[in-house]
Amino acid sequence: MAKKIAIVTGGVTGIGRAIAKTLVEHAYTVMVCDIDEQRGEQLAQEFPGSLYFYHCNVAKEEEIKAVVERVYCEHGRIDALVNNAGIIRRRTSEEIKVSDWDEVFQVNVRGAFLFCKYVAPLMKQARRGKIVNISSIAGKMGDITSAPGYGPSKAALDGLTKTFARELAPYGITVNGVAPHAIETEMSAQWTPERRESIIKAIPLQRLGKPSEVAAAVAFLLSEGADFITGEIIDVNGGYLMD
Ligand SMILES: NC(=O)c1ccc[n+]([C@@H]2O[C@H](COP(=O)([O-])OP(=O)(O)OC[C@H]3O[C@@H](n4cnc5c(N)ncnc54)[C@H](O)[C@@H]3O)[C@@H](O)[C@H]2O)c1
Repeated sequence: MAKKIAIVTGGVTGIGRAIAKTLVEHAYTVMVCDIDEQRGEQLAQEFPGSLYFYHCNVAKEEEIKAVVERVYCEHGRIDALVNNAGIIRRRTSEEIKVSDWDEVFQVNVRGAFLFCKYVAPLMKQARRGKIVNISSIAGKMGDITSAPGYGPSKAALDGLTKTFARELAPYGITVNGVAPHAIETEMSAQWTPERRESIIKAIPLQRLGKPSEVAAAVAFLLSEGADFITGEIIDVNGGYLMD
């Protein structure tokens, strides 16, 4: 039987890397789409025949369109799409440049929209497929680290998840989100030690999360066990927000 094909954006480091590795363990062939060419090629060498690196800037429509066409031409199917690429620009609302705010939306929202836009028709045709968008607790609560573009972009991503979930449900395709908080990655490494300590103190489970714990939630949403779940945003946050 042909192996399932998954696209993971921003899959070279952090949470995306953990998702890509977990999906390889779940017998997917994984296409990692990222701008970090050097580390992307290294990652592909770790998993020969199971993980491929594609240079793709999710802020660029033509690159997304080309990657989706290439993956489909080469493998004839796309079973799973994980929109994970995300950026944050930490400034107060007075300090942030409008161009930086726009860039956050371009990567975190428009990039996910475009991947869904180009992958959805292929999934519809197959009447099969699952999409997971990596959101953030900031989409539900606002951003706690002074990033005025980030929280709103993740709230928009949650809206996008629910909208595509409705549009694609008649075709048996599910679209869900995972909203992490305080996961140990390069993004969280930018925190000062004081901020890190105060963030941990506020988490009921009293620690940071692991990228593999976000990946496990994604793997569940992509599994058959989650066939009746769509339009849901699953929290992975150590109990920080219980909604
Ligand atoms: N780390 C956390 O605590 C945390 C919490 C909540 C949500 N998230 C979300 O999880 C996702 C992954 O975060 P992370 O902490 O692993 O981040 P990270 O910075 O470690 O990794 C982000 C990856 O995305 C890639 N990327 C950045 N811009 C890109 C672009 N334009 N096109 C393609 N790839 C691009 C980077 O090269 C990198 O591989 C993001 O969407 C983030 O918002 C993270």
